[in-house]
Amino acid sequence: MGSDESQKALDTIFSFVPTLVLKSALLLKIPDIIAREGPEASLSLHEIAALLPTQTPNLHYLSRILTYLSAKGIFIQSQANNEPSYALTNTAKLFFVNEKNPFSLVPVALMQSDEVLQKSWHYLHESVLHGCQAFEKAHGKDLWSYGKDDPHVNNIVNDCMASFTMMGMAQIVNCYEGFREVQSMVDVGGGKGTALGQIVKAYPHIQGINFDLPHVVATAPSIPGIQHVGGNMFESIPSAGAIFIKKVLIDWDDESCSKIFENCYKALPENGRLILAEDVVQNHSTASESLEMVADLIMMAHANGGRERSEEEWKKMLHNSGFPLVKVVGLPGIFTKLKIVEAIKMKTE
Ligand SMILES: C[S@@+](CC[C@H](N)C(=O)[O-])C[C@H]1O[C@@H](n2cnc3c(N)ncnc32)[C@H](O)[C@@H]1O
Repeated sequence: MGSDESQKALDTIFSFVPTLVLKSALLLKIPDIIAREGPEASLSLHEIAALLPTQTPNLHYLSRILTYLSAKGIFIQSQANNEPSYALTNTAKLFFVNEKNPFSLVPVALMQSDEVLQKSWHYLHESVLHGCQAFEKAHGKDLWSYGKDDPHVNNIVNDCMASFTMMGMAQIVNCYEGFREVQSMVDVGGGKGTALGQIVKAYPHIQGINFDLPHVVATAPSIPGIQHVGGNMFESIPSAGAIFIKKVLIDWDDESCSKIFENCYKALPENGRLILAEDVVQNHSTASESLEMVADLIMMAHANGGRERSEEEWKKMLHNSGFPLVKVVGLPGIFTKLKIVEAIKMKTE
Protein backbone atom coordinates (compact mmCIF):
# COMPACT_ATOMS: atom_id res chain seq x y z
CA MET A 1 0.00 0.00 0.00
CA GLY A 2 1.46 3.40 -1.04
CA SER A 3 1.80 6.29 1.37
CA ASP A 4 -0.75 8.34 -0.65
CA GLU A 5 -3.39 5.65 -0.08
CA SER A 6 -2.58 5.39 3.63
CA GLN A 7 -2.72 9.16 3.95
CA LYS A 8 -6.15 9.26 2.20
CA ALA A 9 -7.49 6.49 4.42
CA LEU A 10 -6.23 8.14 7.60
CA ASP A 11 -7.50 11.58 6.52
CA THR A 12 -10.96 10.06 6.07
CA ILE A 13 -10.83 8.21 9.40
CA PHE A 14 -9.77 11.31 11.35
CA SER A 15 -11.96 13.83 9.54
CA PHE A 16 -14.21 14.20 12.62
CA VAL A 17 -11.33 15.87 14.51
CA PRO A 18 -11.50 19.42 13.03
CA THR A 19 -15.29 19.59 13.60
CA LEU A 20 -14.98 18.72 17.27
CA VAL A 21 -11.83 20.72 18.02
CA LEU A 22 -13.48 23.74 16.39
CA LYS A 23 -16.50 23.12 18.63
CA SER A 24 -14.28 23.36 21.73
CA ALA A 25 -12.81 26.68 20.53
CA LEU A 26 -16.32 28.03 19.85
CA LEU A 27 -17.62 26.92 23.26
CA LEU A 28 -14.61 28.71 24.79
CA LYS A 29 -15.53 31.71 22.55
CA ILE A 30 -11.91 32.15 21.49
CA PRO A 31 -12.73 33.98 18.21
CA ASP A 32 -14.86 36.45 20.26
CA ILE A 33 -12.05 36.90 22.81
CA ILE A 34 -9.55 37.83 20.09
CA ALA A 35 -12.06 39.92 18.09
CA ARG A 36 -12.90 42.05 21.14
CA GLU A 37 -9.33 43.40 21.01
CA GLY A 38 -9.79 44.44 17.35
CA PRO A 39 -9.98 42.72 13.94
CA GLU A 40 -6.20 42.54 13.51
CA ALA A 41 -5.37 41.77 17.17
CA SER A 42 -2.95 39.00 18.08
CA LEU A 43 -3.22 37.69 21.64
CA SER A 44 -0.67 35.61 23.49
CA LEU A 45 -1.59 32.25 24.98
CA HIS A 46 -1.58 33.81 28.48
CA GLU A 47 -3.78 36.71 27.37
CA ILE A 48 -6.37 34.37 25.85
CA ALA A 49 -6.25 32.09 28.90
CA ALA A 50 -6.80 35.07 31.24
CA LEU A 51 -10.08 35.86 29.45
CA LEU A 52 -11.54 32.36 29.75
CA PRO A 53 -14.33 31.83 32.32
CA THR A 54 -12.05 29.99 34.80
CA GLN A 55 -9.41 30.85 37.40
CA THR A 56 -7.34 27.78 36.49
CA PRO A 57 -7.04 27.46 32.71
CA ASN A 58 -4.83 24.65 31.45
CA LEU A 59 -2.37 26.39 29.10
CA HIS A 60 -1.00 23.16 27.77
CA TYR A 61 -4.39 21.92 26.50
CA LEU A 62 -5.30 25.37 25.24
CA SER A 63 -2.10 25.69 23.19
CA ARG A 64 -2.67 22.26 21.58
CA ILE A 65 -6.15 23.30 20.44
CA LEU A 66 -5.00 26.69 19.16
CA THR A 67 -1.97 25.27 17.36
CA TYR A 68 -4.12 22.65 15.61
CA LEU A 69 -6.70 25.25 14.55
CA SER A 70 -3.88 27.49 13.29
CA ALA A 71 -2.70 24.60 11.11
CA LYS A 72 -6.30 24.32 9.88
CA GLY A 73 -6.35 27.99 8.84
CA ILE A 74 -8.65 29.30 11.59
CA PHE A 75 -6.01 31.27 13.54
CA ILE A 76 -2.65 32.78 12.58
CA GLN A 77 0.00 31.65 15.02
CA SER A 78 3.13 33.75 15.57
CA GLN A 79 5.85 33.82 18.21
CA ALA A 80 6.58 36.84 20.41
CA ASN A 81 8.57 36.98 23.68
CA ASN A 82 8.99 33.22 23.67
CA GLU A 83 5.26 32.69 23.67
CA PRO A 84 2.81 31.86 20.86
CA SER A 85 0.23 34.49 19.87
CA TYR A 86 -2.94 33.99 17.88
CA ALA A 87 -4.78 36.28 15.45
CA LEU A 88 -7.95 35.69 13.42
CA THR A 89 -7.85 34.59 9.80
CA ASN A 90 -10.69 35.69 7.49
CA THR A 91 -12.22 32.24 8.08
CA ALA A 92 -12.26 32.86 11.84
CA LYS A 93 -14.28 36.02 11.16
CA LEU A 94 -17.21 33.69 10.36
CA PHE A 95 -17.08 32.44 13.96
CA PHE A 96 -18.14 35.45 16.00
CA VAL A 97 -20.74 38.19 15.80
CA ASN A 98 -20.41 41.88 16.54
CA GLU A 99 -21.85 45.07 15.06
CA LYS A 100 -19.29 45.05 12.20
CA ASN A 101 -19.58 41.32 11.67
CA PRO A 102 -23.31 40.45 11.74
CA PHE A 103 -23.15 37.04 10.03
CA SER A 104 -21.84 33.96 11.83
CA LEU A 105 -21.53 30.25 11.10
CA VAL A 106 -21.33 29.40 14.82
CA PRO A 107 -24.93 28.03 14.90
CA VAL A 108 -24.11 25.73 11.96
CA ALA A 109 -20.97 24.47 13.69
CA LEU A 110 -22.75 23.95 17.03
CA MET A 111 -25.69 22.08 15.48
CA GLN A 112 -23.54 19.77 13.38
CA SER A 113 -21.26 18.96 16.33
CA ASP A 114 -24.04 18.61 18.91
CA GLU A 115 -24.18 15.26 20.72
CA VAL A 116 -27.87 14.67 19.90
CA LEU A 117 -27.37 15.38 16.20
CA GLN A 118 -24.09 13.48 16.02
CA LYS A 119 -25.79 10.35 17.37
CA SER A 120 -27.77 9.94 14.08
CA TRP A 121 -24.55 9.26 12.20
CA HIS A 122 -23.99 6.13 14.28
CA TYR A 123 -27.15 4.65 12.75
CA LEU A 124 -26.61 5.49 9.07
CA HIS A 125 -25.82 1.86 8.22
CA GLU A 126 -29.18 0.85 9.75
CA SER A 127 -30.89 3.05 7.12
CA VAL A 128 -29.27 0.91 4.45
CA LEU A 129 -30.08 -2.37 6.16
CA HIS A 130 -33.64 -1.62 7.23
CA GLY A 131 -34.72 1.56 5.36
CA CYS A 132 -35.23 3.34 8.70
CA GLN A 133 -34.44 7.01 9.44
CA ALA A 134 -31.14 7.34 11.28
CA PHE A 135 -32.28 10.12 13.65
CA GLU A 136 -35.43 8.22 14.54
CA LYS A 137 -33.47 5.01 15.11
CA ALA A 138 -31.08 6.91 17.40
CA HIS A 139 -33.73 8.79 19.40
CA GLY A 140 -37.07 7.02 18.95
CA LYS A 141 -38.70 10.07 17.28
CA ASP A 142 -38.00 12.40 14.38
CA LEU A 143 -35.95 15.59 14.65
CA TRP A 144 -38.97 17.91 14.61
CA SER A 145 -40.74 16.03 17.44
CA TYR A 146 -37.47 15.87 19.36
CA GLY A 147 -37.16 19.68 19.13
CA LYS A 148 -40.66 20.04 20.59
CA ASP A 149 -39.56 18.30 23.79
CA ASP A 150 -35.99 19.63 24.00
CA PRO A 151 -35.56 23.43 23.92
CA HIS A 152 -31.77 23.12 23.48
CA VAL A 153 -32.16 21.07 20.28
CA ASN A 154 -35.06 23.27 19.11
CA ASN A 155 -32.83 26.35 19.45
CA ILE A 156 -29.69 24.96 17.87
CA VAL A 157 -31.65 23.57 14.90
CA ASN A 158 -33.60 26.80 14.32
CA ASP A 159 -30.46 28.95 14.72
CA CYS A 160 -28.51 26.72 12.32
CA MET A 161 -31.27 26.95 9.68
CA ALA A 162 -31.41 30.73 10.09
CA SER A 163 -27.64 30.99 9.69
CA PHE A 164 -27.58 28.76 6.57
CA THR A 165 -30.51 30.69 5.13
CA MET A 166 -28.63 33.99 5.35
CA MET A 167 -25.97 32.50 3.05
CA GLY A 168 -28.35 32.07 0.09
CA MET A 169 -30.97 34.78 0.52
CA ALA A 170 -29.21 37.65 -1.28
CA GLN A 171 -29.06 35.51 -4.44
CA ILE A 172 -32.74 34.53 -4.15
CA VAL A 173 -33.88 38.12 -3.58
CA ASN A 174 -31.70 39.47 -6.41
CA CYS A 175 -32.28 36.78 -9.05
CA TYR A 176 -35.99 36.00 -8.74
CA GLU A 177 -38.13 38.86 -10.08
CA GLY A 178 -41.49 37.20 -9.27
CA PHE A 179 -41.67 38.66 -5.73
CA ARG A 180 -42.54 42.06 -7.30
CA GLU A 181 -46.00 40.81 -8.31
CA VAL A 182 -46.80 39.16 -4.97
CA GLN A 183 -48.98 41.04 -2.44
CA SER A 184 -49.11 38.49 0.38
CA MET A 185 -46.98 35.40 0.88
CA VAL A 186 -46.71 32.57 3.39
CA ASP A 187 -43.34 30.88 3.96
CA VAL A 188 -44.14 27.24 4.77
CA GLY A 189 -41.55 25.71 7.15
CA GLY A 190 -40.00 29.16 7.43
CA GLY A 191 -38.25 28.48 10.76
CA LYS A 192 -37.60 31.74 12.61
CA GLY A 193 -38.68 33.83 9.59
CA THR A 194 -35.15 34.60 8.38
CA ALA A 195 -35.79 33.99 4.67
CA LEU A 196 -39.12 35.82 4.63
CA GLY A 197 -37.52 38.65 6.60
CA GLN A 198 -34.99 39.18 3.80
CA ILE A 199 -37.69 38.99 1.10
CA VAL A 200 -39.97 41.50 2.87
CA LYS A 201 -36.98 43.79 3.48
CA ALA A 202 -36.32 43.87 -0.28
CA TYR A 203 -40.04 43.95 -1.22
CA PRO A 204 -41.75 45.85 1.63
CA HIS A 205 -45.13 45.81 -0.14
CA ILE A 206 -45.43 42.05 0.64
CA GLN A 207 -47.50 41.06 3.68
CA GLY A 208 -45.59 38.08 5.06
CA ILE A 209 -46.77 35.10 7.09
CA ASN A 210 -44.05 32.91 8.55
CA PHE A 211 -45.54 29.44 9.12
CA ASP A 212 -43.83 26.65 11.03
CA LEU A 213 -44.43 24.24 13.91
CA PRO A 214 -45.70 26.05 17.06
CA HIS A 215 -42.53 25.36 19.11
CA VAL A 216 -40.40 26.74 16.23
CA VAL A 217 -42.28 30.01 15.69
CA ALA A 218 -42.27 30.45 19.48
CA THR A 219 -38.49 31.08 19.18
CA ALA A 220 -38.85 33.56 16.25
CA PRO A 221 -37.98 37.23 16.76
CA SER A 222 -40.46 39.93 15.85
CA ILE A 223 -39.79 41.01 12.22
CA PRO A 224 -41.44 44.08 10.64
CA GLY A 225 -44.02 43.10 8.00
CA ILE A 226 -44.26 39.49 9.18
CA GLN A 227 -46.83 37.62 11.22
CA HIS A 228 -45.66 34.34 12.76
CA VAL A 229 -48.21 31.51 12.64
CA GLY A 230 -47.75 28.09 14.25
CA GLY A 231 -49.32 24.97 12.74
CA ASN A 232 -48.77 21.75 10.86
CA MET A 233 -48.32 21.89 7.08
CA PHE A 234 -49.76 18.36 6.79
CA GLU A 235 -53.04 19.62 8.26
CA SER A 236 -53.49 23.09 6.73
CA ILE A 237 -51.54 26.11 5.53
CA PRO A 238 -52.60 29.76 6.03
CA SER A 239 -54.08 31.43 2.93
CA ALA A 240 -52.06 34.00 0.98
CA GLY A 241 -51.60 35.19 -2.61
CA ALA A 242 -48.37 33.19 -2.93
CA ILE A 243 -46.56 30.42 -1.09
CA PHE A 244 -42.79 30.19 -0.63
CA ILE A 245 -41.14 26.94 0.49
CA LYS A 246 -37.38 26.77 1.00
CA LYS A 247 -35.36 23.66 1.78
CA VAL A 248 -38.33 21.87 3.36
CA LEU A 249 -39.44 19.41 0.66
CA ILE A 250 -35.94 17.93 0.49
CA ASP A 251 -36.70 16.49 3.95
CA TRP A 252 -39.77 14.56 2.82
CA ASP A 253 -40.71 11.66 0.53
CA ASP A 254 -42.97 12.11 -2.52
CA GLU A 255 -46.15 11.13 -0.69
CA SER A 256 -45.55 13.73 2.06
CA CYS A 257 -44.67 16.40 -0.55
CA SER A 258 -47.92 15.68 -2.40
CA LYS A 259 -49.83 16.17 0.86
CA ILE A 260 -48.06 19.53 1.40
CA PHE A 261 -48.87 20.55 -2.21
CA GLU A 262 -52.50 19.56 -1.64
CA ASN A 263 -52.65 21.97 1.31
CA CYS A 264 -50.85 24.66 -0.74
CA TYR A 265 -53.52 24.23 -3.41
CA LYS A 266 -56.28 24.83 -0.84
CA ALA A 267 -54.47 27.89 0.59
CA LEU A 268 -53.89 29.68 -2.74
CA PRO A 269 -56.32 31.64 -4.94
CA GLU A 270 -56.70 30.69 -8.60
CA ASN A 271 -53.45 31.53 -10.43
CA GLY A 272 -51.70 31.83 -7.04
CA ARG A 273 -47.97 31.31 -7.23
CA LEU A 274 -46.07 28.48 -5.57
CA ILE A 275 -42.39 29.45 -5.28
CA LEU A 276 -39.99 26.71 -4.22
CA ALA A 277 -36.35 27.31 -3.32
CA GLU A 278 -35.14 23.71 -3.36
CA ASP A 279 -32.32 21.69 -4.85
CA VAL A 280 -32.72 20.69 -8.50
CA VAL A 281 -30.25 17.98 -9.44
CA GLN A 282 -29.04 16.39 -12.67
CA ASN A 283 -30.46 12.92 -13.33
CA HIS A 284 -27.07 11.32 -12.85
CA SER A 285 -25.10 12.41 -9.81
CA THR A 286 -21.32 12.24 -9.99
CA ALA A 287 -18.92 11.08 -7.31
CA SER A 288 -16.96 14.33 -7.03
CA GLU A 289 -17.20 15.57 -3.46
CA SER A 290 -19.05 18.85 -2.98
CA LEU A 291 -20.67 20.82 -0.20
CA GLU A 292 -24.04 19.69 -1.53
CA MET A 293 -23.09 16.03 -1.46
CA VAL A 294 -22.27 16.52 2.22
CA ALA A 295 -25.59 18.37 2.72
CA ASP A 296 -27.41 15.44 1.11
CA LEU A 297 -25.88 13.02 3.63
CA ILE A 298 -26.71 15.39 6.49
CA MET A 299 -30.36 15.20 5.31
CA MET A 300 -30.08 11.42 5.25
CA ALA A 301 -28.77 11.41 8.83
CA HIS A 302 -31.31 13.81 10.32
CA ALA A 303 -34.37 14.16 8.10
CA ASN A 304 -37.50 12.14 7.42
CA GLY A 305 -36.58 10.15 4.34
CA GLY A 306 -36.52 13.04 1.90
CA ARG A 307 -34.44 13.21 -1.25
CA GLU A 308 -33.11 15.46 -3.96
CA ARG A 309 -35.15 15.74 -7.17
CA SER A 310 -34.45 16.53 -10.82
CA GLU A 311 -36.35 19.17 -12.82
CA GLU A 312 -38.40 16.40 -14.48
CA GLU A 313 -39.36 14.98 -11.07
CA TRP A 314 -40.39 18.40 -9.71
CA LYS A 315 -42.40 19.06 -12.88
CA LYS A 316 -44.26 15.75 -12.64
CA MET A 317 -44.99 16.01 -8.93
CA LEU A 318 -46.16 19.63 -9.20
CA HIS A 319 -48.30 18.92 -12.26
CA ASN A 320 -49.99 15.99 -10.52
CA SER A 321 -50.86 18.34 -7.62
CA GLY A 322 -52.44 20.97 -9.89
CA PHE A 323 -49.41 23.25 -10.28
CA PRO A 324 -48.06 23.47 -13.84
CA LEU A 325 -44.39 24.42 -13.74
CA VAL A 326 -43.69 27.91 -15.05
CA LYS A 327 -39.92 28.18 -14.80
CA VAL A 328 -36.76 27.17 -13.00
CA VAL A 329 -34.37 30.00 -12.11
CA GLY A 330 -30.71 29.18 -11.37
CA LEU A 331 -28.88 31.02 -8.59
CA PRO A 332 -25.20 31.94 -8.28
CA GLY A 333 -23.26 31.11 -5.10
CA ILE A 334 -21.81 28.14 -3.27
CA PHE A 335 -25.08 26.17 -3.22
CA THR A 336 -24.99 25.30 -6.91
CA LYS A 337 -28.06 23.03 -6.87
CA LEU A 338 -30.36 25.51 -5.12
CA LYS A 339 -32.86 26.90 -7.64
CA ILE A 340 -36.17 28.70 -7.70
CA VAL A 341 -38.95 26.49 -9.07
CA GLU A 342 -42.04 28.55 -9.88
CA ALA A 343 -45.47 26.99 -10.48
CA ILE A 344 -48.97 28.45 -10.75
CA LYS A 345 -52.19 27.01 -9.36
CA MET A 346 -54.14 25.56 -12.26
CA LYS A 347 -57.61 26.98 -12.90
CA THR A 348 -60.36 24.77 -11.57
CA GLU A 349 -62.93 23.72 -14.19
C1 LIG B 1 -34.70 22.30 6.81
S1 LIG B 1 -35.68 23.41 7.72
C2 LIG B 1 -35.83 24.75 6.57
C3 LIG B 1 -36.14 26.04 7.26
C4 LIG B 1 -36.24 27.26 6.35
N1 LIG B 1 -37.22 27.13 5.31
C5 LIG B 1 -34.88 27.58 5.79
O1 LIG B 1 -34.66 27.48 4.59
O2 LIG B 1 -34.02 27.94 6.58
C6 LIG B 1 -37.27 22.63 7.66
C7 LIG B 1 -38.34 23.38 8.43
O3 LIG B 1 -39.57 22.66 8.30
C8 LIG B 1 -40.27 22.78 9.52
N2 LIG B 1 -41.29 21.73 9.64
C9 LIG B 1 -41.09 20.40 9.84
N3 LIG B 1 -42.27 19.77 9.94
C10 LIG B 1 -43.24 20.73 9.80
C11 LIG B 1 -44.67 20.68 9.82
N4 LIG B 1 -45.32 19.52 9.98
N5 LIG B 1 -45.36 21.84 9.64
C12 LIG B 1 -44.70 23.02 9.47
N6 LIG B 1 -43.33 23.13 9.44
C13 LIG B 1 -42.62 21.98 9.61
C14 LIG B 1 -39.15 22.65 10.54
O4 LIG B 1 -39.55 23.08 11.82
C15 LIG B 1 -38.05 23.49 9.90
O5 LIG B 1 -38.12 24.84 10.33
